[in-house]
Amino acid sequence: MKIKKAVFPAAGFGTRFLPATKAIPKEMLPLVDKPLIQYAVEEAKASGLSEIIIVTGMGKTAIEDHFDTSFELEMLLRERDKTELLKMIENVSGMVHFAYTRQKKPLGLGHAIGITKNLINNEPFAVFLSDDIIDSKTPAMKQMVEVFQRYGTSILAVQKVPKSQAHLYGVIKGKKVAPGVYKVLDLVEKPKSNPPSDLAIIGRYILTPGIFNSLEETKPGKGGEIQLTDALKILIRTQDVFAFEFEGTRYDAGDKLGFLKANISLALKRPDLKADLRKFLRNIKN
Ligand code: UTP
Repeated sequence: MKIKKAVFPAAGFGTRFLPATKAIPKEMLPLVDKPLIQYAVEEAKASGLSEIIIVTGMGKTAIEDHFDTSFELEMLLRERDKTELLKMIENVSGMVHFAYTRQKKPLGLGHAIGITKNLINNEPFAVFLSDDIIDSKTPAMKQMVEVFQRYGTSILAVQKVPKSQAHLYGVIKGKKVAPGVYKVLDLVEKPKSNPPSDLAIIGRYILTPGIFNSLEETKPGKGGEIQLTDALKILIRTQDVFAFEFEGTRYDAGDKLGFLKANISLALKRPDLKADLRKFLRNIKN
């Protein structure tokens, strides 16, 4: 079965990045010169997904503007013969089909996914948390789609993390079934101690529509939020769910240090920036 739709939950307040995110959505913070969310949208497109559903909330209209046509800007670039820039801007708005839905209150990641039920139309779909930036040869979601073709059921992206970091993630207990693939036996959201493994869930998922029933059954957890991990715990009672260790370097760009690392690493790959940046970094004195 082909996966066409991708949900981008983007209604969180981005509190780790305050005050920058008071009036600007976290998803619009730039890595070098491109907003975070555009990296994930490009990954979705390169993975064969053609319909993007962005869950927005208060103060997030900049995301819609970014992916919309900007008539005045395009006219100005055309008049000034800035062909390359014009092509880049047209690419952004013409990339894929976008739909938006609004989460009225930030009641959690699970709730944000739950409200897309009517737009998903009973088919498996992808989920992207756009502050997880994955730099890889084959787009991370494309790797996951290939695993989905083999197993035909929900796939969670996971990555090994040091045990000392496990409390920051949803962590799975899994049984290895193939290289890099685990059957999920249990999940724990942000374990305070004794994580069930070192396999942490990263912000890429392929979910079957069964998740919507599980979300409806999920009771609000910490802070009144509906956690996706809790819904997945319900889902594994009736359906197989697999975890997949993708190939690639992942940056948590929703965290200050991760954001800085992502900016530097991506800039060091840019032909127009790398030589001067490397020189600058070498000469920094503490
Ligand atoms: P985070 O846990 O990263 O929360 O949400 P956040 O608000 O974005 O950032 P911090 O932790 O306060 O700094 C994970 C993903 O789920 C979305 C967020 O937009 C992010 O993509 N989300 C979270 C929603 O869409 N709605 C919610 O109610 C909560």
